[in-house]
Amino acid sequence: MMKGTEVCGMNPVEIKNNIYWVGGIDWSLRNFHGYLTQRGSTYNAYLVIDEKVTLIDTVKHYLFDEMLERISAVIDPSRIDYIIANHVEMDHSGSIPRMRGVAPGATVITSPTGQKGLQEHFGPGGDYRVVQSGETMNTGKHSFTFVHTPMVHWPDNMVTYLSDQEILFSNDAFGQHLATSERFDDEYFLDVIIQEARKYYANIVLPYGAQVKKALDAVSGLKIGTIAPSHGIIWRRHISEILSNYAGWCSNRTVQKAVIVYDTMWHSTREIAYSIQRAFENRGCATRMMGLQENHISDIMTELIDARFVCVGSPTLNNNMLPTVSAFLTYMKGLAPKQRVGLAFGSYGWGGQSIGQVEEALKSCGFEMLESIRCKYVPRGEMLKEIEKKLETSLESL
Ligand code: FEO
Repeated sequence: MMKGTEVCGMNPVEIKNNIYWVGGIDWSLRNFHGYLTQRGSTYNAYLVIDEKVTLIDTVKHYLFDEMLERISAVIDPSRIDYIIANHVEMDHSGSIPRMRGVAPGATVITSPTGQKGLQEHFGPGGDYRVVQSGETMNTGKHSFTFVHTPMVHWPDNMVTYLSDQEILFSNDAFGQHLATSERFDDEYFLDVIIQEARKYYANIVLPYGAQVKKALDAVSGLKIGTIAPSHGIIWRRHISEILSNYAGWCSNRTVQKAVIVYDTMWHSTREIAYSIQRAFENRGCATRMMGLQENHISDIMTELIDARFVCVGSPTLNNNMLPTVSAFLTYMKGLAPKQRVGLAFGSYGWGGQSIGQVEEALKSCGFEMLESIRCKYVPRGEMLKEIEKKLETSLESL
């Protein structure tokens, strides 16, 4: 534990006067729809006490009791007047039905697509107030402004801004899958928080760069002293760092870095991968060797977020690429990284179809392509040297 840290246990954490974090900590979470969450996660809900009492987002259904315990330490939960649902996805809205049970007078505040999505999940009816982008809501001393941020991360997303406190409740944006008892960015290891924010962006937000840009533009005029996302740590000291990272990530800004992803049967494709690595290294390019037997695809995506070169290798098995390579390519295509240069490679015995299949998959991502590298059976000393030199030459013009 770091110096000066307060451990929250099952208590709420006051983030500003009468504004509390009351979320749930999912210490054991290791899989978030295919994303390896090796540090767990949190679902952040916030309670704002005013003449009217507001709960901002909820938690996954199985952490409802934990959230309720935190709320109950501050007020009687039946006093909640408003539940702001910034996002329909069930990690944030999953506890709305039970919350309505304990706060029957509560109105759910959400975007137009938010209402549709919530009713599709929970059934028709229910007390909703639909808010437009830019609309405000007064709860006494406080005034909330809602800004629609569609596709960051679903069509229904919005963020909520509490202007008098300069707090942006950003939902998925700026979040991290990170389970900690510490709540603030100045209480935990900044490099870990940034790394988890990077992983979160690469595996959740990456396809929506254009929408992230619009969202950043929409909030750029706001004075922001605190960013309170719906996952992980709250930003209060390092706001400029996370904003500038997001600006880079959503622009698909890359550096001279090659991520070399491969699987191998008898180490021939692996040998080619190392020749490729040496060629990039000789050209002064950073490299990451990412064998699919040792690396999770979500960790590969995290490395890929700023890599200009994406090299993918597979031997041929039964006229196809290996299933691990196919799974990675499917996952990467869905996340739609842009402005990359691709390279397909692999060894084969007779058919050699895998290399062409990998090449087609990389082309379908819209990547500029380097000439594919293929070797029959076992690449040996001279052949590996030739691969290295030929690739090095090709890289000269890039
Ligand atoms: Fe954290 Fe898109 O839900």
